[in-house]
Amino acid sequence: LAQNILFFQTIDSTNTYANKIAEKSEEGTVVLANEQTNGKGRTGKKWISEENVGVYFSIILKPEIPLSKASFLTQIAGASLCLALNKNNIPAKIKWPNDIIVGGKKISGILTEMNAEIDRINFIVVGIGINLYKTSFDELSNVATSIENEGFEIEREKLLKDFFEIFERLYSEFRKNSIVETRKTLRDYSAVLGKEIYLINNGEKEKVFAENIDENGNLIVRDQMGIIRTVFSGEISIRGL
Ligand code: BTN
Repeated sequence: LAQNILFFQTIDSTNTYANKIAEKSEEGTVVLANEQTNGKGRTGKKWISEENVGVYFSIILKPEIPLSKASFLTQIAGASLCLALNKNNIPAKIKWPNDIIVGGKKISGILTEMNAEIDRINFIVVGIGINLYKTSFDELSNVATSIENEGFEIEREKLLKDFFEIFERLYSEFRKNSIVETRKTLRDYSAVLGKEIYLINNGEKEKVFAENIDENGNLIVRDQMGIIRTVFSGEISIRGL
């Protein structure tokens, strides 16, 4: 993986570009940019991607797995990034399903896009944006931050190198049908397990207790009636987060 890195000073979106070239590209090809003019976030939001203050990249993957397992790749990417940051003395945690937080605020987001027919995956694009040095967050300042803003330091190249080394390990583990290290990471570095959290559904908040993360990366919660439920996707909120 990451043998083939396509670098752009500026691009609309590394995910958009990766989707365009994926069919003809080798597995593990990475599209990396210094600036995005149309960075995409989850749920149709924009991902502000100014030059020199962050890292924006997308990985093209072609795993032979059933569709139902594809979303676990996002978790592998999140776990890898969290481990890479902690290796560099940055106390990062994972807010399920895939935000990376430092100092209680988001420093990184992941957008996974899948191209599949019936039950065959053509390719998957995992896009990661990391705020390294950004200092102004305007109206997002109570939810978003950067590594430097929180008083930590890291060099872009070192972070990418460590990330790809760990991602390679966890991804190859996953392809061999084992997710031991990823699952342990998701639990050990979770910002939500063992806490009261809110599930957000169409603007409605429901208070639940976060019990566990299952082998598919789903969140297991206990609701107000004491019923154990599996949460497959969506937004959650935590007090103070
Ligand atoms: C989120 O909403 O939390 C996900 C943000 C994902 C942003 C990254 S930056 C690199 C890649 N290219 C994009 O257009 N989006 C992702």
